[in-house]
Amino acid sequence: MRVLAVESSCDETAVAVYDGPKGELLAHRVHSQTEVHAAYGGVVPELAARDHMRRLPWLARQTMMDAGLGFEAVDAVAYTSGPGLAGALMTGAAFAKGIAASRGVPALGVNHLEGHILAPLLGDDPPAFPFLALLVSGGHSQLIEVLGVGRYRLLGESIDDAIGEAFDKSAKLMGLGYPGGAALSGLAEQGDAEAIRFTRPMINRPGLDLSFSGLKTAVANAVASGAPHADVAASFEKTVIDTLVIKLGRALDQTGLERLVVAGGVAANRPLRARLGALMLERGGTVHFPEVELCTDNAAMIALAGFLRLRAGECDSAAGFSVRARWPLSALRPPGAVA
Ligand code: KG4
Ligand code: ZN
Repeated sequence: MRVLAVESSCDETAVAVYDGPKGELLAHRVHSQTEVHAAYGGVVPELAARDHMRRLPWLARQTMMDAGLGFEAVDAVAYTSGPGLAGALMTGAAFAKGIAASRGVPALGVNHLEGHILAPLLGDDPPAFPFLALLVSGGHSQLIEVLGVGRYRLLGESIDDAIGEAFDKSAKLMGLGYPGGAALSGLAEQGDAEAIRFTRPMINRPGLDLSFSGLKTAVANAVASGAPHADVAASFEKTVIDTLVIKLGRALDQTGLERLVVAGGVAANRPLRARLGALMLERGGTVHFPEVELCTDNAAMIALAGFLRLRAGECDSAAGFSVRARWPLSALRPPGAVA
C-alpha cells in the first residue's frame, strides 16, 4: 500500500509518499510559509490557507517525481484533519480528497499529534510500545503515556503557553524574528546559562502540568533591564530544559515506563536532546527522537499514522469531510476500532 500524505495544519505545506508494507519513506517535501507570516510576527490563518492552496499541486507533483512514481501508483491518501487552523486544514483536506476521488482510492483524516508522536517509528531506532511521549511544539506541550497506536493517556500539559510558543515569544523580545526558537537556541550557545536565575516554573507543585507564561514575563523583564541577550537566551533555555527533566523524571517514576519519545518542533533543540539522552542513560532507559527534519511539521509522519489506520480498514465516509480545529489525542482509539 503506497500512501500519499498531505499536511497543512499550520504554516508548513507538506507532501510525502510512503510505502507502508516496506516501511519505506519514498519521498517527502516541506514548504515553509515563514516568509509569508514573518512580517506579522505570527501565523495569519487566512494567508496560511491561501498559500497551502497555491503550493499543494506543485509540491505533490514534485514529491511524486522524487519518488519516481505517477499518481496512478497511489493506493490511499492520508491528510491531517486536525487539530490546527480550520481554513488551513480544509485546503489540505480538499486537495487530498480530490486526489483520492480521482484515483478511486480511500482517503483518511489523520490526527496531527498522533503523527508527531509516531514519527520516531520512521527512524533507524524505533521505540517499542509502551513509551512516554513528550510532545513539544509551537502549539502543544504534553506528556502522554503511549500504550500502543491509538492508546494515549494524557499525563500532563501546559496550562498556558506551549514550549515552542515560549521560545518564539522570548525570541521576539530579543528581536530574533519569527519563529525564533532555533535562533534563540543558536544565540544561547554564546551566553552564560547561569547568568540569570529564572524560577523553574511549577516544579514545587505536584503533578505533571507545565506553565511557561511566567517565564516569558521574566524574560521580558530581563531584556528590559538590559541583560545581554545571549545570557538571557542561555538562561531561558536551561530553565525550560531543567523543568522538563524534573517533570519527565516524575512521569517515568509514576508510570514505570523505560522508553522516552520526544517529538514536535522543539525536539530539534540540541541541548534538549543532549540532556534527555543523559537522563535516560542515567535511568537505564532509552530515548528516541525523530530525525531532526521530521521533528517539525511534515507529511511523512502523517503518511505513517495514516498507513497504520488505513491497513486496519479505516477510511473516511464517501460523503463530505470534516476537519477538527480541536482534537485531543485522548479521543483516539486503536486502528480499526470505532471512535
Ligand atoms: O511541530 P512544529 O513544526 O509546529 C507546530 O505544530 O507547532 O513546531 C514549531 C515550533 C516553533 O515554536 C519553533 O520555534 C520550535 O518548534 N523550534 C525550536 C527549535 N526548532 C524549532 N525550539 C527550540 N529550539 C529549536 N532548535
Ligand atoms: Zn506540529
